[in-house]
Amino acid sequence: MAVTQAIPITRHPYADGSYKKMLIDGKWVDAASGKKFETRNPATGELLATVAEGDAEDINRAVAAARRAFEGPWSKVKPFERQALLLKLADLVEKNFEELSQLDTLDMGAPISRTRGNKLRVLGMLRYYAGQATALHGETIENSLPGDIFSYTLKEPVGVVGAIIPWNGPLGASVWKIGPAIATGCTVILKPAEEAPLTSLRLAELAMEAGIPPGVVNVVTGYGETAGAALASHPGVDKVAFTGSHVTGQSIVRASAGNLKRVSLELGGKSPDIVFADADLDAAVPGAAMAVFANSGQICSAGTRLFVEHQVYDEFVGRVAEFGKKLQVGNGLDPNTQIGPLVSEQQMERVSGYLDIGRKEGAKALAGGARLTNVQDNMRIAQEEIFGPVISAISFKDSDELIQRANATTFGLGSGVWTRDVSKAHRVAKALRAGSVWVNCYQAMDPAVPFGGYKMSGYGRESGKQHLEEYLNVKAVWIKTG
Ligand code: NAI
Ligand code: MG
Repeated sequence: MAVTQAIPITRHPYADGSYKKMLIDGKWVDAASGKKFETRNPATGELLATVAEGDAEDINRAVAAARRAFEGPWSKVKPFERQALLLKLADLVEKNFEELSQLDTLDMGAPISRTRGNKLRVLGMLRYYAGQATALHGETIENSLPGDIFSYTLKEPVGVVGAIIPWNGPLGASVWKIGPAIATGCTVILKPAEEAPLTSLRLAELAMEAGIPPGVVNVVTGYGETAGAALASHPGVDKVAFTGSHVTGQSIVRASAGNLKRVSLELGGKSPDIVFADADLDAAVPGAAMAVFANSGQICSAGTRLFVEHQVYDEFVGRVAEFGKKLQVGNGLDPNTQIGPLVSEQQMERVSGYLDIGRKEGAKALAGGARLTNVQDNMRIAQEEIFGPVISAISFKDSDELIQRANATTFGLGSGVWTRDVSKAHRVAKALRAGSVWVNCYQAMDPAVPFGGYKMSGYGRESGKQHLEEYLNVKAVWIKTG
């Protein structure tokens, strides 16, 4: 892979090395403990900002504020007004999009071409949720009881929501949690990842500017084991919406047991990407490569297990390796960069560690160790989520056996199929145990189309009408009329 020159960092107002407070009840506050932590640019190691280090005490304050807002003024705000607030926020995000893209790039390293490229989806999400705010409704349901008794349902906001997000796409992840909360009339405490908290803080500032009332959107910055764990176990939180690793997801479920709060989980994956010999290989080569190399592999639904039909295996993996070698690696702020750094030293060590494990288990690295071939289904590199630019290439002959092998993972988030045969595409799409199947494309996402996991990739759906349901309770009302 060619390496571009690092370019000088523009001093962003949120990344000029200064101290950033967190947002509780519409006010910018220090952590109760007075503690702070650093966030750095992974491309250069440069200090971007120090941030308030919230913990259990700050979560208590934020939950109290969110509860007051939920039961007080926010409960009187009509759907039409919630819609207007979301549309206003969307306009502000649009106006400041370049700044928000740069902030994501600075804080977690993704290429600027990628963070800018999120514009359509981020704005689309805010405006989609705005639309849904006035489209929520229960049903009148005819019952079979004797006499005259009328029944209907109400959809009510679930209440105070704790939202915990990872670092791999801070702006998109923040909007994905805050948007449905505002649309449904919930209040939210957002806990960004400690590796990349800055965009969430700036977004919260825009939410205040849009006129979203105090306590409706709170952001508590801090570490997972302290602030995150306190939010997940808090008896005053009605629901946790979590995105991150399955190990943390499991601890969130355990922590939720105290008050049996609702939980939705968008966890990791080890998604199969299947290339049949009859596929348009010119499209499948970049498609399969970018299914993993995009965001340096730090995408939950990355197509990291590449199954290639044996007749074209050698040609195909060779071409993917060539494609990988040509990608421009560099500082995310350089518009030519296609692959940015991994988010942290720790993540770099994790990914390199997996490459060593792969070699020890007998896989062979092509293209600078960035891609492994001769991978067997049961190797750890073919089973565990690596979250780096690592593809495991696996050859297959028998199509029936292929399905079984593709599904032989504890995860079930994304999956890809490349073929020109329409019936084969339908058959395989039906057989794959995953929340999304992409045929002749990879990673397509839209605010109106549900996204989520099977098996250990989690439960609940984000985007689409199902997403709003995650933030709503259903109440049945019976009225005896005669
Ligand atoms: P993580 O799941 O630990 O972190 C995600 C979020 O959860 C962060 O905000 C973190 O502060 C919070 N958190 C951590 N421990 C917590 C706890 N006990 N209670 C409540 N919240 C907690 O993921 P991490 O450590 O950043 O990355 C490790 C691996 O996880 C990655 O290499 C990747 O394989 C996977 N991952 C998957 C993601 C996805 O989108 N599905 C996103 C991030 C990581
Ligand atoms: Mg950072």
